[in-house]
Amino acid sequence: MDAIVTPAQPLRGTLTVPPDKAICHRAVLLAAAAEGETDIRPWPSADDCQRTLHLVQQLGASVAVSPEAVRIRGVGEAGLREPQANLSCGESGTTLRLAAGLLAGQPFAARLTAGPSLSRRPMRRIIEPLTRMGARIEAASADAGELCPPLIVHGRRPLKALRYELPVASAQVKSAVLLAGIWADGPTTVIEPQATRDHTERMLRRLGVRVRQEGAAVTVEPGPLRAPGPLVLPGDFSSAAFLLVAAACVPGSQVTLQGVGLNPTRIRLLEVLQRMGAAVRWTAVEASWEPRGTVELEAGPLRGLALEAADVPGLIDELPILMVAAACARGTTRLQGLGELRVKETDRVRSMVEALGRLGARIRLNAAEGVEIEGGRLRGAPVDSAGDHRTAMSLAVAGLVAEGATTVRGVECVSKSFPEFFDVLRRAAGSPTVKTVDKG
Ligand code: S3P
Repeated sequence: MDAIVTPAQPLRGTLTVPPDKAICHRAVLLAAAAEGETDIRPWPSADDCQRTLHLVQQLGASVAVSPEAVRIRGVGEAGLREPQANLSCGESGTTLRLAAGLLAGQPFAARLTAGPSLSRRPMRRIIEPLTRMGARIEAASADAGELCPPLIVHGRRPLKALRYELPVASAQVKSAVLLAGIWADGPTTVIEPQATRDHTERMLRRLGVRVRQEGAAVTVEPGPLRAPGPLVLPGDFSSAAFLLVAAACVPGSQVTLQGVGLNPTRIRLLEVLQRMGAAVRWTAVEASWEPRGTVELEAGPLRGLALEAADVPGLIDELPILMVAAACARGTTRLQGLGELRVKETDRVRSMVEALGRLGARIRLNAAEGVEIEGGRLRGAPVDSAGDHRTAMSLAVAGLVAEGATTVRGVECVSKSFPEFFDVLRRAAGSPTVKTVDKG
């Protein structure tokens, strides 16, 4: 499937984004191991969430799907059972890494399999701490000594409590260790080099687990999981990011997003867009669980800026779309410390540098695992998503501001996180700005 994108009219009005995928994974995994029933709503249409839902069914949780909600009847912490088949994670890295943490504490073995792109992504980062806790994990070996899926997790109960300093800032690795910590013989602590999204900590507290944050150290106490009652998911900030940057780049745009997740560990992009010159306002309703609220954005002339490596974790999934904003801005943008962006669904540094270069952006790699982007005019051209949902959506937004037509090849991957993306964009940017073409 290709998307053919032509210059947009100003984006206007109130736009909707799908429910948060990252929070949904955590809700499903923990609800499955809790005693009692949990309703999750609205249910995200993202493929990745479906993977996690199917996985917990294979572990014995029962699931009822209605138009309003997905209801999970948990089996209690001792009730998960050995799966009869492979646990297929598709391309969902969060499903695989978080499930590995959960499975580490179960007294059985399970095989986690992955699609072609996830089968090349690094897993030593979770295998190392989970092995130190007492699980045994078999993995396929790959280039440069990396360990990759499929993984066979031979769990054990209880696990050994661990104090672990993360070598990379990764919410997925932190979460795998914290989830395993539920079944450890004492408190488990993870120390982060930089703060990453804290959805797992919030969800654990919501299920009655004791979680302590002391500076960069987060500690989880083993203990029972209580069903949390209905979980109403906020809108996914990472999906909202594409619409916000589209509105920031197309002069005359003015958009409002309601009910968007505004967890402070996720919304760095809002401050960055403000510094770049967009008029952005947001108001969070401080909920006990996950903050959410309204974001209003009005386009303004954008200017480049420099970000440090320490800024990266707060906008890890927004970096590809930020590169598009930078390509539309006046002056130079410098981004550093992008190493983690190279091990996502694709090497996003490479796919974005190549594709934005094709659209006429002056963009180059620098020595500090970074990129420098000289803003200017973009020209429509054929570009490739590299099979990566965030690259595909970023390039579609670039197409809205490029002269002429931009064909983004391979856009079916947007169903991983935001299947409605092209419909929402088409409605906001004016028909027929975006067309999808099925090549069969
Ligand atoms: C995620 C954490 C991030 C992010 C991914 C989802 C999560 O990955 O890129 O899309 O839900 O914990 P890393 O933890 O590998 O940086």
